[in-house]
Amino acid sequence: MQVALVTGASRGIGRATSKLLAHRGFRVLALARTKDDLNSLAAEKSGILPTVLDLTDPEQIDEILDPLLEEHGPVSLLVNNAGYGMRGAIEDSPMAEVRRLFEVNLFSLLHLTQKVLPGMRRARQGVIVNVSSVAGLASTPFGGIYSASKFALEAASDALRLEARPFGIHVVLVEPGPVTTNFTTAAAEVSDPILNRRESAYHRYYKKLQETVSWVHDKSVSAEVVAGTILQASQSPRPKARYRVHKLLFYVPPFLRRFFPSWVLDRILAGRLGLSGQ
Ligand SMILES: NC(=O)c1ccc[n+]([C@@H]2O[C@H](COP(=O)([O-])OP(=O)(O)OC[C@H]3O[C@@H](n4cnc5c(N)ncnc54)[C@H](OP(=O)(O)O)[C@@H]3O)[C@@H](O)[C@H]2O)c1
Repeated sequence: MQVALVTGASRGIGRATSKLLAHRGFRVLALARTKDDLNSLAAEKSGILPTVLDLTDPEQIDEILDPLLEEHGPVSLLVNNAGYGMRGAIEDSPMAEVRRLFEVNLFSLLHLTQKVLPGMRRARQGVIVNVSSVAGLASTPFGGIYSASKFALEAASDALRLEARPFGIHVVLVEPGPVTTNFTTAAAEVSDPILNRRESAYHRYYKKLQETVSWVHDKSVSAEVVAGTILQASQSPRPKARYRVHKLLFYVPPFLRRFFPSWVLDRILAGRLGLSGQ
C-alpha cells in the first residue's frame, strides 16, 4: 500500500486531499494540531492515521516524524499543504508573527521534505506536492509577508525539482487562488489585531483592503477541486512543474508582473487600494 503524508489535514484543502487519497487506496498519515478534527477525519474514512503535530516546533517534528516514518515509511507522496495567511503593512507586522508564519509556511515544509527524501531516494520514486498560491506569483499591498513565504516556497521548489530528478522523484507546485476553507478566518485571527490598530499610519487603507478581500473571496473554488488537482499531479507519470487552480481572473496579476514593466501592475493595485503617490 502506498503511503501519503499530508500536512494541514484537519481542515480545508488538506482534509479534502486526505479523504481523496484514502479513497484511492493510500494509507494517509494526516498531520495537524487539532486532535478532534483529525479524529473525526479518521472516523469518516478508513486508511487515515491522525497525528497531532505543531509545525512551529522543529523539535516536535523530529520527535514525531522519525518514529512515524520508521513505522509506516517510505512515504511515496508528501503533500506540504499546512499554511496560513497574514494581512497588514510590512511596517505594522510584528516580527514574532512574521517568524511564526515563515516557520509554518516555509521552514517546516523544508524540514518535512528533508525527512521523506531519503526514503524516496532509496525507493527511487516519490512525489512532493507543495501547496503554494497565486500570492507566490504576484505580491499585493498588505499581503507582503504571506507572499514572501510563498515566493520563497516557489524558489525552493524550483531548485528541488531538479535536485530530485535523478532519483525519480517529482516535485510539483499547486497554486490555488481563493478557496472556500477556514483560511480567511485563520488569517483574520492573526491579522485583525494589526488591521484594527487605529493609530496605524495605514489604517485608512485597511478598510479598502477588507473590501478587496471579500470581493476576491467571492470568486473562490472548493477545497475538493484543489484536492482533485493534487491527486492528478501526484498520479501523472510526467507531472507539470506548476498547476494553477482558480478562476480566470487570477491569471491577470502574475501575467502582468511577468510580461509588463512593474509600474503597470503597481498602478492597478494602487488604484484599487487608494495608494496614490505624493
Ligand atoms: N484558502 C485559500 O484561499 C488558499 C489560497 C491559496 C493557497 N492556499 C494555501 O492552501 C494551504 C491550505 O490552506 P486552507 O485553505 O486549507 O486553510 P485552512 O482551512 O485554514 O487549513 C490550514 C491547515 O493548516 C494547519 N496548520 C496551521 N498552522 C499549523 C501549525 N502550526 N502546525 C500544524 N498545522 C498547522 C491547520 O490545522 P490545525 O489548525 O489543526 O493545526 C489546517 O489543517 C495553505 O498552505 C494556504 O496557504 C489557500
